Amino acid sequence: MQSITANGATIPVIGLGTWQLNGDAGSRITEQALKLGYRHLDCALIYGNEKEIGVGLHASGVKREEIFITTKVPHTELAPSALERAVKQSLVNLRISDVNLLLIHWPNPQIPLAETMGAMAEMKKKGFTRHIGISNFTVALIEEAVKLSSEPIVTNQIEWHPYLDEEKVRAACARHGIAVTAYCPIARGRAIGDEVLTSVGKRYGKSAGQVSLRWLVQKGAIVIPRTSKVERLTENMSIFDFELSAADMAEVDALAKPAGRVVSVGWAPKWD
Ligand SMILES: NC(=O)c1ccc[n+]([C@@H]2O[C@H](COP(=O)([O-])OP(=O)(O)OC[C@H]3O[C@@H](n4cnc5c(N)ncnc54)[C@H](OP(=O)(O)O)[C@@H]3O)[C@@H](O)[C@H]2O)c1
Repeated sequence: MQSITANGATIPVIGLGTWQLNGDAGSRITEQALKLGYRHLDCALIYGNEKEIGVGLHASGVKREEIFITTKVPHTELAPSALERAVKQSLVNLRISDVNLLLIHWPNPQIPLAETMGAMAEMKKKGFTRHIGISNFTVALIEEAVKLSSEPIVTNQIEWHPYLDEEKVRAACARHGIAVTAYCPIARGRAIGDEVLTSVGKRYGKSAGQVSLRWLVQKGAIVIPRTSKVERLTENMSIFDFELSAADMAEVDALAKPAGRVVSVGWAPKWD
């Protein structure tokens, strides 16, 4: 498994997204993913399934040290005492003593970012996480978080796929050595039926989904596709035996559009 090193953290380029992987099926797919070679799990307290993911993690037989585990603090729990409670709950759920990476799931303008960044650094000092990071942070918020954090920020996890460019946020991350983790890397399945991705894939004997993931990885992303189907686990990680040409990269680049977002952020707190 290839990895990316950013601000001191070495992160496997492919992780298993775990949103909606619930119940026994969630445990089984986690166990299978690890048995097939996945070494990175993307979890969140708010997904409500960390216990099941933990069952799969421990059943896999893969050593804890070999697995990169991320979890996220909900935007409602960003005040210092709530944040520590949330992190401890995630560790209990997953049955591990620390995570590799703790992210702020979404920014929250109601809670001063200085306090949250202080609490995140504290989680690292207390040994609950090895690294800290952010998610869904805009350019302005990235700059603020970097200034306020006593610990390096290793990634910003954002929606990124062929329909959404995110160039400005990616440039801000690059300025600070922050890796970008692409969530919804196959656009919640929309990439699968895409004519352009399908025709590009035919040139390499690959699926549209594999083209979407490979395009992201060639642009320097960490990708965290989710699937509930065992056979798709292998498909989604089989992206290291081909390389998209510059012309094919450009063809995929051209799919980006202003309304390309697939995640509705209507509920999310707004910063102005
Ligand atoms: N930080 C954040 O705010 C945030 C927000 C959203 C997501 N995330 C993280 O990012 C992860 C990935 O995003 P996502 O789950 O929203 O979307 P995604 O990974 O882009 O797409 C998942 C969808 O694609 C289908 N799929 C996966 N592989 C496939 C394949 N090879 N062929 C055909 N269909 C395939 C899955 O269906 P099947 O199950 O039927 O295969 C599922 O419906 C999440 O699970 C979560 O861990 C983070």
